[in-house]
Amino acid sequence: MNADPLKADVVVDRSAVLAPVHRRLFGSFVEHMGRCVYGGVFEPGHPTADDRGFRGDVLDLTRELGVSVVRYPGGNFVSSYRWEDGVGPVAERPTRLNLAWRCLETNEFGLNEFIEWCRAANVEPMMTVNLGTRGVQEACDLLEYCNYPSGTYLSDLRRKHGYAEPHRIKLWCLGNEMDGPWQVGQKTPLEYARLAAETAKAMRIIDPTIELVAVGSSNSDMPTFGEWEATLLEHAYDQIDYVSLHHYFDPGDQSRGDFLASGVVMDRFIDAVVATADHIGAKLRKRKKIQLSFDEWNVWYVSRFTEPTDREWIDLPPLIEDDFTADDAVVVGDLMITLLRHADRVTVANQAQLVNVIAPIRTLPGGPAWRQSIFHPFAITSRLAKGSVLDVRPRGPVYATDRHGDVPVLSAVATCDPDSDEVVVFAVNRAEQPVELNLALLAGDGYVHAEHVTLTGGRDAVNTPEQPDRVSPRRLDTSPMDGGRAVIELPAVSWNALRFTPHEKG
Ligand code: AHR
Repeated sequence: MNADPLKADVVVDRSAVLAPVHRRLFGSFVEHMGRCVYGGVFEPGHPTADDRGFRGDVLDLTRELGVSVVRYPGGNFVSSYRWEDGVGPVAERPTRLNLAWRCLETNEFGLNEFIEWCRAANVEPMMTVNLGTRGVQEACDLLEYCNYPSGTYLSDLRRKHGYAEPHRIKLWCLGNEMDGPWQVGQKTPLEYARLAAETAKAMRIIDPTIELVAVGSSNSDMPTFGEWEATLLEHAYDQIDYVSLHHYFDPGDQSRGDFLASGVVMDRFIDAVVATADHIGAKLRKRKKIQLSFDEWNVWYVSRFTEPTDREWIDLPPLIEDDFTADDAVVVGDLMITLLRHADRVTVANQAQLVNVIAPIRTLPGGPAWRQSIFHPFAITSRLAKGSVLDVRPRGPVYATDRHGDVPVLSAVATCDPDSDEVVVFAVNRAEQPVELNLALLAGDGYVHAEHVTLTGGRDAVNTPEQPDRVSPRRLDTSPMDGGRAVIELPAVSWNALRFTPHEKG
């Protein structure tokens, strides 16, 4: 390995505002899958649990993570779920088969528990309706139960269940991954497009203030990718606000260099969906722009996962409890940079999932909760990215990858908080050697480099209950700054947050 630093440049112009930093970009996802709900957010009897069974240590870490919005209850789970099973007296709730994950669902935790948990975590709920085994009527029933004030059968049922005020859920997803052969109730593009349009139309009659997310492709390699989005938008352009994107990045099935280029894959996927949406918008003579909801994204060792097709139905099988390395955290940080760089169109994003299932937070039954490596870039980005996203175009060398062609070594974005004038640059060095970053902050006289946090460390170590902080960010010395210019070294394969403050506020 060559130890000489590569050189790259970033020019930060505080007037080059791309979009606001939408808080909904810091979303997460809680599915009835593995130990995300049971043993994750909900564990009655745990030493930190409250009288509702909500684990206090998980709530604390969720707040520390800086999560803004949480999608629920699935995921694949939702496509055969009856929401009515999860409301009313717990003792009367049925145990059902969870078809998505081949286990038993006791329904001890349901809709109202989720809403209470969201209030405790200070996050916005994002609700998914079942368009796999169910349809327009059940989606309308769920919305009426949640959002209609009173005086109808379902709104009064909610009141009888102890919730006099409507839940006022704003964000609704019209099903989940309906293009996937693994989905219960998979649809063709046309079947889904018509169902989404009719469901959206009916839901808006009940509550015109809701925002609706229609299902896009499960990833950009799906055979129907492109056709799916185009067909959907031809039929439902007026009825929906967002089209969704999902993508998981597998460190186990590709070279290190290819994996570190995951941000580029996400970038191209977003560009393609924007192009499709705008093409259909142009054809239909629409002024409205469709927004993107990247409502499942993360690193996932998919190649280690075997579908639970032939095992016994057991209560709570732990599923995909991946342990994450520093490289995984670098990629997660890079994916967040990519989402911010597209904040003009991507206005909702949810890391999948919150607890235990490919998650930043892990728990042991009756035991501790700890932060995985990927917790840190998420938490720091959510805390520091404020105000506006700036249009930053990094310049620097590229490296060759097997799958994605030549990929830039440096990935970066900047934000600027108009209240404090603080500028934060988030930067990933994808190269296996340091990068010397020449940073120029235009009209930056008097600015100082106040903080440099980095996360690096390769692919060997992970955090465990015994060593929960083994892979953690560390502070590096800041660099002198003169006339808005600084030279900052980014370690090999690292994620970095660089904070710059006007001198007097440093
Ligand atoms: O997050 C795990 C699963 O991945 C979700 O249930 C599904 O939507 C996706 O395929």
